[in-house]
Parts: sequence; structure tokens; C-alpha cells
Amino acid sequence: MVVRTVILGHGMVANHLVVGLERIKNGDMEPYGVPFGNKDLGIDFDEIEIVASYDIDSHKVGKTAYTVARRAIGDQVPVPKSLRELVIREGVHLGSVEGLPIKATGLDKRYSLGDLVDILVDEWREYEPDVFLNMLTTEHGKPFEDLEALEYAIEEDNRERLTATQFYAYAAAKYSREHKRAVFINVIPVPLANDPAIVKLYKLSKGLVLGDDGATGATPLTADLLEHMAERNRHVLSIAQFNIGGNMDFLALTIPEKNIMKEFTKSSIVEDILGYDAPHYIKPTGYLGPLGDKKFVSMHIEYITFNGLRDELVVNYRINDSPSLAGMCVDLIRLGKIALDSGCTGTCYPINAFFMKKPGPKEAKSVSKIVAFQRLVDFLSERGIEILSDLESR
Ligand SMILES: NC(=O)c1ccc[n+]([C@@H]2O[C@H](COP(=O)([O-])OP(=O)(O)OC[C@H]3O[C@@H](n4cnc5c(N)ncnc54)[C@H](O)[C@@H]3O)[C@@H](O)[C@H]2O)c1
Repeated sequence: MVVRTVILGHGMVANHLVVGLERIKNGDMEPYGVPFGNKDLGIDFDEIEIVASYDIDSHKVGKTAYTVARRAIGDQVPVPKSLRELVIREGVHLGSVEGLPIKATGLDKRYSLGDLVDILVDEWREYEPDVFLNMLTTEHGKPFEDLEALEYAIEEDNRERLTATQFYAYAAAKYSREHKRAVFINVIPVPLANDPAIVKLYKLSKGLVLGDDGATGATPLTADLLEHMAERNRHVLSIAQFNIGGNMDFLALTIPEKNIMKEFTKSSIVEDILGYDAPHYIKPTGYLGPLGDKKFVSMHIEYITFNGLRDELVVNYRINDSPSLAGMCVDLIRLGKIALDSGCTGTCYPINAFFMKKPGPKEAKSVSKIVAFQRLVDFLSERGIEILSDLESR
């Protein structure tokens, strides 16, 4: 089997993904940081093929993934020469990097949105993707709720209402309906798997949308620590968690509307896991250039323990930000394909619950990642993929 994958947004996460994947395929490193990297999912790393990648940064469009990766991460990791075969294509901008120091280009300068849907679907007919992986700069997007409203926005060429993420998701659904069933994986906060309109669109297209907002770094750890508190009936009084980083993603989050999108996807975990809304401050708080891609995370949780006494938990750590999501993406690609082939349409909560900060569908709750992992193992077992025995043997 070959899982043909299209990348949307060739930034830091994409650089680490394409480089890391090639290095694993070449046997140059172990798949550490890939959740099911040491389990047999029935799809090998060799079977993942990146067939196309899109961006709107004029310094990237037309360049190879090799050149772009050398520039971005070449001082940290060896960049395989095989990436010279992947040339980054021009995407659809729709204002997604406005306010950032990026010289943007975009097909939407030359075509209407309706025409662009057909242009992209025609391109994808040649590449035959099974998977679309959306890793654009964080955008400020509102759910459509109603499928007709989404269709109307495309018809009316309403560029104010549509984000690039929603536009790509719409075009990929059309491709899925007319040509080949496909999965759209959304690791950014724009609501797709949390938008009933998009989930309905994917159901009708016999495709699958997974999302929203990849859970790496501090948020899954906070979720698991809250599970720990809930299971011991410790009453949480407050949660403070902040991230400071120096990559483009953190710079984008200095734009208030974009930061609000992250706050929304991160904060939903508190009430969902504890059952009450403990006062909390959970958001990316700042940009500090010298930290680069290795962000600084700090967390403080105060709670009431037995006999009414107060405990405090303090965690400080530094995380390589983009590689942690890139490792997750390797398995999102494989699991997305497994879910699609087993007949799932619309969205797939067991996958979203483990991999996403705001797992869709809209009405679904966040659970801790420890609980979500066990449920995902059950989901795979129902599809004939047994990895439980492996876990039990530990
Ligand atoms: N650990 C993590 O790094 C992490 C965790 C969760 C979610 N995310 C999300 O992943 C996304 C990518 O993160 P990153 O660090 O790679 O960011 P980045 O800024 O390095 O990369 C984003 C890329 O998308 C491109 N882009 C922007 N608008 C586009 C459009 N309309 N069409 C095509 N390309 C477009 C940009 O030019 C850039 O190359 C962010 O939205 C972030 O919120 C990251």
C-alpha cells in the first residue's frame, strides 16, 4: 500500500516531518516521538509518500523541500538529498499570513474561489492523494455550522468569511466525493472537525476530517495531570500554564485573534476532565526570538488534598516544538488511512481524542490522553490491529 499525502503549509512542522520521515525510511534513526512507532499498524513508514506540498511564502514556492529544510533546520539535522524531488507549489493565501513578515503570493490573486476549487481538484487528480495534512499558520476562523452557508461563501467568492484552511478542506472534500476517498487532517485551531458543516460535508463526500489542533507539548501533559487529580478526587483550585517560544508560530500568536483561537482549543480540557471549571490561565503567552523552536513551558497547579491541606505542583520544561507535532503527524497519516479504509466517514473521535487539543465532533468532550490512548487501542483492535498484548507485556 502507498499512502499518498499532500502537505498544506510547508513550515517548521512540515520541514521536520519530511526530513524525519526520510531519515526513518533510510534507517538513519529510530521512530522515537511517533506514538505507534514501535507497534505494527500494518502500514510501514516506507508506505507514506509525500506527493505534493503547498505554501504561499514567495521564498518557498518553486523551491525544493530540500532547499527549504536546509535553510530552516539544516544546522540541527542532516537533510536527505531525496527531498530535491519535492517542489513546493503555490497555494491559496486568503490573508492567512497578514501581519507577519512574510512576502505572500497565492493563486487567489488570479482566480475566483469557485475556479480555484476546480483547479486544485484537477491538480489532485494527478497526485491521487489519500491524505491532506493541514499545517498552515494559525488562522482566525469561525465555524460555518450550516453546510449551505459554507457553499454560499464559496459561490459568492466571500474572502472575508473563509479562511484558507476552510477553503482547502472544502476543495479536498470535493476531490474525495468526485475522485478518490480522502482524509483531511487539521492540526491547527481553525474549527473543522468541530464544525458540523464540515463534518457533514465529509460524510456526504465519503471522506474523513480529523482535528482540531494537534496536541503536543504542554496541553496533553496538563490534561494527564488533571486526570491524575480527578482520579484521586483532589480539588483543583487553579491552573497556570504558559508557553514562550521563538518560532514563526509564536510570532503569529502575538496577533490577538490568532491567540484567541489557541486559548479556545486549550482551555476546553479543564472542565471536560475535572467536571468543574477550575480558574485557569492556559495560553501561549509570548514570543522571544532567542528561544527559537525550543519553547519554554511552565505550569503551576494548586489543589486541596486530604484534611483540607493545599499542595502545589510546579513543572518547568523546554520542548522542541515542531518535531513533537511532526512525530504525531506520521501516525495521524497512518491512522487516518486505516480509519478511512475501515469505512469511517465524517470525523473519527477515537483518533481525534488522542491527537488533538480540541477533538471533534463539536459535542465531544476532551478526555486525558492516557484514557484516549487506551480507547484508541480498542478502536484499532476492533479493526483487527492488536497492539494491546504488546502493551500488556510491559
Ligand atoms: N508543536 C507545534 O509546533 C504545534 C502544535 C499544535 C499545532 N501547531 C500548529 O501547526 C501549524 C504549523 O506550525 P509551524 O510551526 O510549522 O508554523 P510555521 O509558521 O513555521 O509554518 C506555517 C507554514 O504555512 C504557510 N502558510 C500560511 N498560510 C498558507 C496558505 N494559505 N496556504 C499554504 N501555506 C500557507 C506559511 O508560509 C508557513 O510556511 C500552526 O498553525 C500551529 O498552530 C503546531
